[in-house]
Amino acid sequence: MTRALTPGTFDPITSGHLDVITRASQLMDEVIVAVAASERKNPLFSLEKRVQMVRQATAHLPNVTVQPFSGLLVDFAREVGAECVVKGLRAITDFEYEFQMTALNYQLDEELETVFIMSPPQYMYLSSSIVREIASLKGDVSGFVPPCVKEALEEKFAD
Ligand code: PNS
Repeated sequence: MTRALTPGTFDPITSGHLDVITRASQLMDEVIVAVAASERKNPLFSLEKRVQMVRQATAHLPNVTVQPFSGLLVDFAREVGAECVVKGLRAITDFEYEFQMTALNYQLDEELETVFIMSPPQYMYLSSSIVREIASLKGDVSGFVPPCVKEALEEKFAD
């Protein structure tokens, strides 16, 4: 029985995140989407709202649950009994940052495994920050995010 974490800030969750979570849910017995408080990133959406949107977007996946966390990922993994972390890897620009986080997480807890899933081409360049920018400029984000996120972004940037 493998319990995996898919961590992120999810500000907001995109179709790329959802693709990684879905693929992870097909590989693992149980997936917990760990929504980081990430206070230093000064998120656009509150932690509560980000969790709510991830819950709505993953409601159709029976082995996926969603939990907020603050503090270290390795501590949260221990707390919920997760053996592994699954992350998406997009264009090569992701690599250095992910490589650093993985190396440090291994130093903090050598038993917590990190597994990467490559993003398919259509999500290679998709990010929450690009989605926030498009939405703030009143662009159409429907191809990039689940419907509940589109609605929340429209509300956020309404005049
Ligand atoms: O979606 P993001 O912002 O790229 O996700 C980054 C996240 C939340 C996975 C990462 O910042 C994290 O694990 N934060 C928790 C704090 C922590 O454990 N930091 C040390 C990592 S080496």
